[in-house]
Amino acid sequence: MGKYIGIDVGTSSVKAVLIEHGKVLCTESRTYSTHSPCEGWFEQYPRDWWETTADAIRSIASNHYGQIDAIGLTGQMHTAVMINSLGEPIYPAILWCDGRSAEQSNYINQHVGEHAVIEHTGNVSMAGFTASKILWLKEHHAKKAKLIHKVMMPKDYIAYRLTGVVATDYSDASGTMLFNVREKRWSAHMLDKLELDQSLLPDVYPSDTVIGSVSSSVVKQLSLGCQPKVVIGGGDNAMGAVACGVVSEGMATASIGTSGVIFAPKADYPNPGDGFQHTFCDATGNYHQMGVMLSAAKSYQWLKNIVGLSYEQLNTELKNANPVTTPLFYPYLSGERNPFYSPNARGAFASLDAATDVGDLARSVIEGVSFSMKNLWQMMGSPQRVRLTGSPITRSICPEIFATTLNQSIEVMPETCSPALGAAITAAVGAGEFATFKEATDHCVPKGRMIAPITKDIELLQARSEKFNTKLQHIKATFD
Ligand code: XUL
Repeated sequence: MGKYIGIDVGTSSVKAVLIEHGKVLCTESRTYSTHSPCEGWFEQYPRDWWETTADAIRSIASNHYGQIDAIGLTGQMHTAVMINSLGEPIYPAILWCDGRSAEQSNYINQHVGEHAVIEHTGNVSMAGFTASKILWLKEHHAKKAKLIHKVMMPKDYIAYRLTGVVATDYSDASGTMLFNVREKRWSAHMLDKLELDQSLLPDVYPSDTVIGSVSSSVVKQLSLGCQPKVVIGGGDNAMGAVACGVVSEGMATASIGTSGVIFAPKADYPNPGDGFQHTFCDATGNYHQMGVMLSAAKSYQWLKNIVGLSYEQLNTELKNANPVTTPLFYPYLSGERNPFYSPNARGAFASLDAATDVGDLARSVIEGVSFSMKNLWQMMGSPQRVRLTGSPITRSICPEIFATTLNQSIEVMPETCSPALGAAITAAVGAGEFATFKEATDHCVPKGRMIAPITKDIELLQARSEKFNTKLQHIKATFD
């Protein structure tokens, strides 16, 4: 049995985990900054990802010198990293939650034709997806855009820094709008229509593919004492599903991280419908559909920051909230993707009164996230076996409210079941320690804790989620 590192280039930090025999031996995390030069724009510097990742790996390797067999990768999806022929980023990475390319995204749908876009990619274009970000750069920084040699996602950039190989995987390629999800290859039709050359894109592989080994110079730089294989891994939602053992149809993950996601694996290529729910490849060689809300734990973090309390203090205030008079919160801090698409959507509180206090606001934010997640869950066909994962912040207070909102028991997964663990498990599959993802997850994924709905609150939360949806129709009118 070997030792495997999983790296997750997340939205607020890089997380690294080391596993052996399917057990987590240690974790590391390093934060980096997000820059917002204009309203609705979000950027990061790829060199920050690399430096923090290198530091995290170095720290793990210091106690496991010469013993790492493989490194698996995951990270934020859709985020565009554009490098020149020397491998240097020509512009800051434009993040998945950045709404600046809404116009270019509409252009993609109109120019290619919505029907054809769905036919060729399984999805419609949305502002967060990668292709519209490339078009935005071409339109606003034509000279820089001419220098683009390759476009990739954050985990692919780390793979490149580790190995010198430019590669991506099916799950992350799915979120670019340039990938034929059904056929698992770059879409010549989309590339042709958008006048983009396929040479700009990485070679694309299944998630468990060994794309190379850590280069000799990086082995020295990270003091590894051995040359681990690098397994390409997948997008954070696909890897999060692996970490929760959600690898077959009938199950789902509910992830409440910066974004909120309901992820449902599909054995065969599913009907993409109107293309608004995402139809992507998963890590196991199959497909999945997911609904994504943009500001989940991010909404609670926003409230914490503006009221100037710690999470612990805010959670204590929340416990004293009056569930009947709590206001309604609409969590659209940076637009929304599902169940309705609006890059211009902005958040709101409704039904505030003179007695509303911080605890009520805290409860209303958690409820608003739960009601939005319920809408995504219904969009995914109300799956019965839901495993909850995501940020530790919301993990402590969200599960009861979420289970009661869904009116069904949910399994809250241990904190270790993160995308980084999924990447480490995928590294183990890629290195041949397990024959299949099913075998690997049966071995590596710990059991969760079942949380039942709070019976006395079911009706109340049912009524409040209906009120949330009714009022939403009026609130939508304020978005433009
Ligand atoms: C998925 C999405 C987010 C990011 C967060 O479509 O945009 O969940 O992957 O990292």
